[in-house]
Parts: sequence; structure tokens; C-alpha cells
Amino acid sequence: MTGDLAQGAWSSGDEGYRDDYGAFLERYPEYRETAHLDELRRREYGRLDACGQVYLDYTGGGLYAVSQIEEHMRLLGSGIFGNPHSSSPASAAATELVERAREHVLRYFRAPAGEYAVVFTQNATAAIKLVAESYPFGPQAPLLLTADNHNSINGMREYAAAQDAEVRYLPLTEGEERIDAAALMAALPRGGTAGGLFAFPAQSNFTGVQHDLAWIGSAQREGWDVLLDAAAYAPTNVLDLGAWQPDFVAISFYKIFGYPTGIGCLIARKEALRKLVRPWYAGGTVAFASVQAFHGPRTAHYLLPGPTGFEDGTLNYLGIPAVEIGLRHIEQVGIDAIHTRVRCLTGWLLTALCALRYRGGQPLAHVYGPVETAGRGGTVLFNLLDPAGWVVEPGLVQRQADRMGISLRSGCHCNPGAREAAFGMQPPDLTACFAGVTGEDLGAFMDAVADKMDGALRASFGIASNFRDAWQLVRFLDRLQDDYAG
Ligand SMILES: Cc1ncc(COP(=O)(O)O)c(C=O)c1O
Repeated sequence: MTGDLAQGAWSSGDEGYRDDYGAFLERYPEYRETAHLDELRRREYGRLDACGQVYLDYTGGGLYAVSQIEEHMRLLGSGIFGNPHSSSPASAAATELVERAREHVLRYFRAPAGEYAVVFTQNATAAIKLVAESYPFGPQAPLLLTADNHNSINGMREYAAAQDAEVRYLPLTEGEERIDAAALMAALPRGGTAGGLFAFPAQSNFTGVQHDLAWIGSAQREGWDVLLDAAAYAPTNVLDLGAWQPDFVAISFYKIFGYPTGIGCLIARKEALRKLVRPWYAGGTVAFASVQAFHGPRTAHYLLPGPTGFEDGTLNYLGIPAVEIGLRHIEQVGIDAIHTRVRCLTGWLLTALCALRYRGGQPLAHVYGPVETAGRGGTVLFNLLDPAGWVVEPGLVQRQADRMGISLRSGCHCNPGAREAAFGMQPPDLTACFAGVTGEDLGAFMDAVADKMDGALRASFGIASNFRDAWQLVRFLDRLQDDYAG
């Protein structure tokens, strides 16, 4: 036996674990090839078991290895690092580490040499906002969005609408919650005009659906620029920018390797970056500015060329070197092994959730989105049902999970379009939520949206996940049937 079972890591309360793990290995024999991740968990993520925690929120945030922190501390403890972009030794040392991290990001994502640039940001949201506020939207340059998008992408429509650009959404198919490919193909042709931005997630943070990366090329051939939100995809999948070449990619590093928080990036094709018109300039982004030569908007400053012209103020120059450390950690572990392990655990969890039954035979859980592993990642969205088939309030289940040391997440997960599709919410009801209610009167606003706040529970796997995590979740849910059987 491989992995956690080999450690004899079960107790008398774990009836059935050995059999279930054996059946799991038979169904997913490739899981054995990821046995080194069990050793990794003991060595680098031992705090999970030491604290008795079942961490199932990798889509919320990844976990860091102890050695990442140690290496970062050693680095900071052994050098003098000052504000970059000066010739002093302290400044040059920091600049060198920042530039090394930038190059490592490009290598990690297999970006063709010379074609892409990395702009360091605070997170994926800030990367998206850089594009949103600078993209030349207009009546001839619309914004095309998929209904499955994080709010950090949905918010782009405010910038587009302010420039009189059309904003259009592509619907989701019922059940699997995938983008309707026919609707996409119908929306792409531009009738001769070029320009316009198409933004979609490589992986849904809601259902875990992976959208087809071939759409990048299809959209570009019709004259669209493409923004790929890879925040939920990158932690457990290879993102190969040699194979797929979106104009812009948004990343949050803490989702990939846990530490540091507060650093993300925009990976942009250099040519696409040149299309962006920054709405302002700031310290760090400007090569030359004059106060006396100022005659009106957009005069008397020169932005720095390339990524630096997008990095407002002082970079997180002490944190950015930890990005390189984190990337090397993932490279040593192997993203393919992480991917395989997460796929096996996801497949088992989906089957187990669908099989959960009350003693009377009624289903105990409902899974939203695809219930097979094809075309999806390791994010699983579900709700507990009562014996009559009604959804048990997910916040209630979450609180019960909290008490058991199981980290799940409940809510709409910042993805209102996917939620509306999953719960069959209709446009008139949703439009009514906004009629005559302003955000200033929070009480009235909450009343208006109260019955549109349905959410679901989300479990997600990542680098340190093992079978025991998935199994403990299922066992916990199974035991809840006594609470809800009525
Ligand atoms: C698909 C997706 N996009 C964007 C974001 C926003 O990431 P951040 O909050 O790190 O900016 C998230 C965060 O969960 C996400 O899952």
C-alpha cells in the first residue's frame, strides 16, 4: 500500500477506511505514482496532521511548504535589499532578485522567449484591473464575457460600459454548467471590425469546469484580444503559453504555492501590452514627468516602456523573491503529479457524493457541474439535501464542518453567473433585485436579495491533499444524515 495507508494513519473511529482506500487505489491505480506527495505532506505540510485539520479550500488559497518559508528567511537574513531601480548595492541586489523572479515566471509558464512580459501585481484581481482600466474599449471594441466568471472579471464591465462598449455574456448549459460552444462560435465573428476583449476563466472557481483553451485561438482569429483568468487553473494544471497564447493572463501566486500572499501577476503578450492606455501614471511607472510643462490631461509625462510602466509604486521587492522559491518548489514536486493526484481524489469524491444516501434511499448530496473528471478540475461544488430533497442551508453545514476541523467554503464564491445558472434563477427575478433599491440602504437591499443568496459548499484539492482528506469529508457528510433525517 502506498501513502497515508502505509503509515497506518487510521484509528478505531475509521471503520471502513482501509477498504475504501483499497477500492480507491484499484479504481485509480495512477494515484500510486504520486506516492512522493505523501512523503512531501509529512515533511513539508506536517502541520496539517499535527493540527488534525482537513484542508479542502485550495481554490481559496494554496498551502505553503515549510521549506519555502525557511529558504525565504535565509535569503532575507543573508543580504541587504533596498528599494529597486537604483545603482546602490542594496538596490541592485533587490532588482536582480525581482528580475530573476520575472524570468522564472515566464519559464514556468513556458512563455515563448521575447513574446511575453510579466507585470507584478498584488493579486489576480489587480492584474485584471490593469487590463480593465487600460483597454481601449469603445463602440467598436466590445467586452465578451462568459456567464461563468469570477466577480474580478465581471467588474470589467464597468470600465467597458463607461466607454460605451457593448458588454455581452455567453450562457451556460444546464446541468454541466459549461459554456454553450455554439453560442460562443456565433458571438465571435466581428463582421470585419477588429478589437474587443474576450475574458474567460481557464477553470471555474465555482464548479471546477475547465473551459476549452482552444477558444483563445478561435477568438484571436476573429480579431479579439483574449484575457485568460488562470487563478483557479494554475495551481493544479500545466498552463503552457507555448501552446496557448492568450493576450493577457491573470495569476495569484498564493493560490499556487501558498506563500507569499499579496503577489500576483499579469502575463501579457508584449504586443498586447502596447495596446493598453494607462489612465494615470505614478511613482515607479514614469520615466520623466514635468509639472511646469503640464498643459492638460495626458501631457508632460513619459511612461516607462514594458512591464515597469504598469507597476505602480514600489514593488513588493522582499516578497517577490519568494515567488521564485515557490515556483521551484512546484517544479521539484511536479505539477503533473499534483494534477494526477487531484484528478484521482476529485473523481472519487464526485462518485462518493453522488452515492451518499439516507437510510430511506434518498440522495444526501447534490453536485453542481460535471460529475465525471473529464474537462474539470479539483473544485467540487455541492449541497446537502434533506430527505425531501430540499437544500440544507450550506452555512449550517459549513459551521458543522468548522467544528470538525474541516475547511470547506460556502456561498456563491464570487461567481454570480455560475450561481444563477446552477440554481435556475431567471432574469426578471434578478432584475427586480435592483429595481428602486440603492446600495445605500443596506437593510432594503438585503431584503431585496434575500432569496437570491442561495449558495453551495465547495471542496477543493491541491498539493498536500490525500485520500484521507476526501474520505473524512464524505464520512462527515454521511454522519450528518442523522441531523437532517427529521
Ligand atoms: C477564477 C478566479 N479568478 C479570480 C480570482 C481572484 O483572485 P484574487 O482574490 O487572488 O485576486 C479568484 C479567487 O478565488 C478565482 O478563483
